Amino acid sequence: MNLLRLLKNKVKQVFQQKEEYNSLIDEFNQLAVETKANLTHKAHSEVYQKLAHGVYYIYGMGVKGDIAEFGTMTGRTAVVLAAAVNECSHNLAYSDQAHGFDKPRQLYLFDSFEGLPDSQHEPDKLSPHVSSGVWGRGTCKGLTPQRLLDICSKYLEAARIHVIQGWFKDTVNISLDSVLALVHIDGDLYESEIDALNPLFERKLISEGAIVFFDDWNCNRADPMYGEKKAWAEMVAKYNIEYSDEGSYGISGHHFIIHRYC
Ligand SMILES: C[S@@+](CC[C@H](N)C(=O)[O-])C[C@H]1O[C@@H](n2cnc3c(N)ncnc32)[C@H](O)[C@@H]1O
Repeated sequence: MNLLRLLKNKVKQVFQQKEEYNSLIDEFNQLAVETKANLTHKAHSEVYQKLAHGVYYIYGMGVKGDIAEFGTMTGRTAVVLAAAVNECSHNLAYSDQAHGFDKPRQLYLFDSFEGLPDSQHEPDKLSPHVSSGVWGRGTCKGLTPQRLLDICSKYLEAARIHVIQGWFKDTVNISLDSVLALVHIDGDLYESEIDALNPLFERKLISEGAIVFFDDWNCNRADPMYGEKKAWAEMVAKYNIEYSDEGSYGISGHHFIIHRYC
């Protein structure tokens, strides 16, 4: 009996997930072809689901702040964030009002628009993905800034989308003043993730209850000596971050909720 109920719930879940993204699948396919992305929307469907739920979480639970993505390439995860922000702005507006958030939440999209930088630091140079050439300079180059804005503004009003072009180390400090409720880290390299995260924690721009997604957590054979795992361990030690580990998702993702840090 219990097993039957479990099964029914599972089927219901799968159908709900499908419905949620049906309208975006053509968009994802188009963006994948346009940017020569090697993984289809199917490989990423759980990533899209998690990111959308992250947006529902910050609205529903009254987590203060905007949404930022570091690493936009094909625009697919940016589109999911834009669509989810738009949906929540309508459906969960009462929650933002009740929590005293009067400004519409903004979406910040950071990228070099030149692909990955040259790897300068040992944790990158020695990592399997960089040393094999999979993550070389200029790889992962995707949409232009204008194309990214055009595609995202089909789902969220353009005035709320801020496309920030340049290396994270040069842009994060000068482009952000507001606190963030959701951060999507997808710059692949150790150095890129440090460049994105360090200024956010240093300037106290990560709000209480913020959700942080790492897309490449289990890249480099999940070795903690490299990439996002190493960058996060350093941030936790440097800023005494207290967090809840929200677990893995998709092929290589992992997410956390931030409580306190100093
Ligand atoms: C794996 S792709 C992101 C995938 C994207 N979220 C999607 O849905 O297609 C990594 C992106 O991070 C950008 N990037 C990596 N390191 C960067 C840095 N230090 N500064 C700026 N952009 C960077 C690259 O240009 C690339 O577009």
